[in-house]
Amino acid sequence: MQTKLDIILVLDFGGQYCHLISSRIREHNIYTELVSHNISPEEIEFLKEKFNIKGLILSGGYTSIYEQNAPKINSIILESDIPILGLCYGHQVLAQAFKGKVEPVTYEEYGITYVTVDKPVGVLEGLNKEEKVWMKHSDTVYSLPDTFEVLAHTNTCPVAAFMHKNKRVYGLQWCPESIHTEKGNHMFYNFIFNVCECEANWKMEEDTIEKMVQKLKTEVGNEKAIIGLSGGIDSSVATVIAAKALNEKLTAVYVDHGFMREGETEAIQETFSKFKINFVVVQAKERFIKNLAGITEPEQKRKIIGEEFIRVFEEEAIKSGAQYLIQGTIYPDIIESGASKNSGNIKSHHNVGGLPEKIEFKKILEPLRDLYKDEVRKVAKILELPNELINRQPFPGPGLAVRIIGPLTEEKIRIVKRSDKIVRDEIDNTILAKTLWQYFTVVTDTKATGVKNDTRLYGYVVVIRAVKSREAMSASFARISYDVLEKISARITNEIPEVTHVVYDITHKPPATIEWE
Ligand code: XMP
Repeated sequence: MQTKLDIILVLDFGGQYCHLISSRIREHNIYTELVSHNISPEEIEFLKEKFNIKGLILSGGYTSIYEQNAPKINSIILESDIPILGLCYGHQVLAQAFKGKVEPVTYEEYGITYVTVDKPVGVLEGLNKEEKVWMKHSDTVYSLPDTFEVLAHTNTCPVAAFMHKNKRVYGLQWCPESIHTEKGNHMFYNFIFNVCECEANWKMEEDTIEKMVQKLKTEVGNEKAIIGLSGGIDSSVATVIAAKALNEKLTAVYVDHGFMREGETEAIQETFSKFKINFVVVQAKERFIKNLAGITEPEQKRKIIGEEFIRVFEEEAIKSGAQYLIQGTIYPDIIESGASKNSGNIKSHHNVGGLPEKIEFKKILEPLRDLYKDEVRKVAKILELPNELINRQPFPGPGLAVRIIGPLTEEKIRIVKRSDKIVRDEIDNTILAKTLWQYFTVVTDTKATGVKNDTRLYGYVVVIRAVKSREAMSASFARISYDVLEKISARITNEIPEVTHVVYDITHKPPATIEWE
């Protein structure tokens, strides 16, 4: 008899991060499912037939529990003996349900905060007196009934973490899933193994690839498909999976829209010439540049690029007789484009929010749509993709077009290409490269005075952006040494005559995003 999997249910109270919580738990080889915040006891009973439900995590979400229609927890769940961990909004909802005092804050905490751990037990076991965490809240838990114990506080938040004295119920005002919460992973470990006593009996790799292949086979049937291949890891992995499912019924289409990095098209052609797939390169630079002429608004740029991609794919589909379009869309693209019920639109990723309304395909298929980048990398390793592909920096579909602020002129395109190559040359040579998520440049629409060849020059300001991240939902600016920055700055200003200033972006995500547009 097959033993049931241990499972943690993540209750979705909105916001962007509940899928990330799920992903963090799965990293510990524990299966998770995302369910609605008002899951009924009957639904829990139904899931119990398939799984051992070992714990519930209430996600962060809405800005205030006092907002109209703010999601509430089904109070019957609180009476069950399943361990519960409330995070951010989930922490407040729990406190409210247990008759604690939760009120709007006078001072809104947003970003990195240091909490004082008063009692390092349960979820906080093994933590220091002071811990760096990431918080965002407009309501605060001020007090709780005697059946609770306060485990941590900040200057403005008297109950930043709590536990029930007799039940396995915990609340954390911060987000352990954020990269900025230093010991977030440790907190999840404590909850799933020490509090919920889970057994790590699930492995993503075992069945994910086979399931994706089978699904594509069923969806496409006897017809044909094309796949948009940008050469980035997502579309490359999706291509290999689609090729396994469809063989010669698949054509991979690489669109050179003119905003690729220096040497990119050649590198991709070389990599994919080694695979047995139908591979087409479409030179579409002129049509993209023409459509983008004079456009300055970032969302408009993204939508024009998204639409033009589709038009190119439609033309290629006619040539190959394809009915379906496959894309390498991953979960953060969907979340950031505001496609999830409870998340806002941060930017329209070209392959999600940037799509036109009318599309001449039977359907768009997205085999990776539930995965994060680090999960895609794991799949890539199992598929034995070349290392140069697995370790490539993520590169946005709209390419360098979203790294040029203001109108896209030939001059700015040249500057961003050249400066990007300099940053890559200098960082690729250091051990730093392996630790960074992305490193690139942005050409701003601001000019600043400089002096070159003893003459005044009113030139471009170029930004160096380098970040660390695990899945792009949050990121921190990289602490690159001044020596490396100095070398990059000197090369950019020496090798690109139009640039007078080079600056370094020291903003985390949030509040910034990784790309500038
Ligand atoms: P942001 O700028 O939202 O970026 O912090 C998160 C990650 O997504 C990449 N990115 C994109 N990738 N199509 C893509 O395929 C897009 O339209 C797009 N926009 C941003 C970005 O490079 C970063 O890794």
